[in-house]
Amino acid sequence: MANQDILTAKLAEAKAKKLAPGGDWSFWPDYDAAESGLHDYWYPVMWSRSVKKKTPKPFKLCDKEMFLMRDETGKIRALHDRCPHRGVKISLGKQWFPGTVSCPYHGWTFDLKTGDVNAVITDGPDSKVCGHAGVQVYPVEEHLGLVWVFMGVGEPHPIEDQLPKELVNAPEYAAGGRIEDRTGNWRFYAENGFDEGHAKYLHRTSIWRIMKVMPTWNKIHIEKEGRWLYRVEDEKFWEADFPGLGKWSNDRWWKMKPKKKEGKTLGNVGGGKNHPYIENQNFPGFASISLPGVLRIAYPTFIHYEFYVPIDKDHTKYVGVMIQFKSGLAKWWYYLKYLFVIRPMFHGHFSSQDHWMVDNTDAPPERLYRPDVSLIKWRKLFSGPGPFAKKTTTDETA
Ligand code: FES
Ligand SMILES: [Fe+2]
Repeated sequence: MANQDILTAKLAEAKAKKLAPGGDWSFWPDYDAAESGLHDYWYPVMWSRSVKKKTPKPFKLCDKEMFLMRDETGKIRALHDRCPHRGVKISLGKQWFPGTVSCPYHGWTFDLKTGDVNAVITDGPDSKVCGHAGVQVYPVEEHLGLVWVFMGVGEPHPIEDQLPKELVNAPEYAAGGRIEDRTGNWRFYAENGFDEGHAKYLHRTSIWRIMKVMPTWNKIHIEKEGRWLYRVEDEKFWEADFPGLGKWSNDRWWKMKPKKKEGKTLGNVGGGKNHPYIENQNFPGFASISLPGVLRIAYPTFIHYEFYVPIDKDHTKYVGVMIQFKSGLAKWWYYLKYLFVIRPMFHGHFSSQDHWMVDNTDAPPERLYRPDVSLIKWRKLFSGPGPFAKKTTTDETA
């Protein structure tokens, strides 16, 4: 039975038995199999400005060791970081000739564009290895000040197709961001990012939220638009009266409530004026997620993105980017605000609460609850071909 059919059958079985799905991850075999990441996607791995011509910059993506380096024209290249001779990391070596890098052990020298060995320092100019050995190269693009590497084989889809559409041909903007290698599986980070229930409870103590009240609970549904899933709020409850226990609320006398209650892109921080470019996107909900693990939170005047980049099954590269569509002096004012307020409070303290919870998540087994519809819909995205799957043609007459 195809994985899609297994999922449908399991969900039907769970419904018939009035069970919440998710006791184990056999419900989601494709999701379960994606432990070390999904192939055939672009991933942001490093800031562009950190990649130079002479020094290899190593990193790991989907369990594969790689390194980045600029060639003699300044274009960034990505190569597999394993010398075919004896398996030493090429990135430990150095550059002797422009557009190449030499392994530190015996001086096998690799062309950065093709990955082919084009000189072997310890075997002389007539070495038979030249042109007969090499390493895999990966497609690279630069966008948003980040280096993006295509983890896959064959011709990649254009990166513009994968970037959030509002960032392609966008008006001038300022971006502040943080990249951090964290412990924990990338799927837990993605689940945590799109998890409906946690923010209003876990993050109630964050400094970022100290002046803003968040609802106690709410009712939502998930809408799919294109490649993206949106959490759409149906009802919001600022407090709750638990029978026999008493009232519970995040509300405190010093906290502000959103002034606009139902604005779809306002999140829980509304009150200011919406930026027209953000408002015009008409996002069905302020929180959205897409494959291969990109979270988008649209606020009235900025958009926050989190890219959960799989390093290996136990580590994730957290790439958080906060964007404001500003120009001129306002742009520089935003950079200052990012550096001294947003970075430590949001990409620092707030986000470290998520890291803390991912480190402490021990699932499966699990027993999901109503707000986890966000998790279930996300996991379902993994069934069937991905949004950029190459069409395979079969010649039935052959
Ligand atoms: S291991 Fe790389 S040159 Fe020998
Ligand atoms: Fe969170």
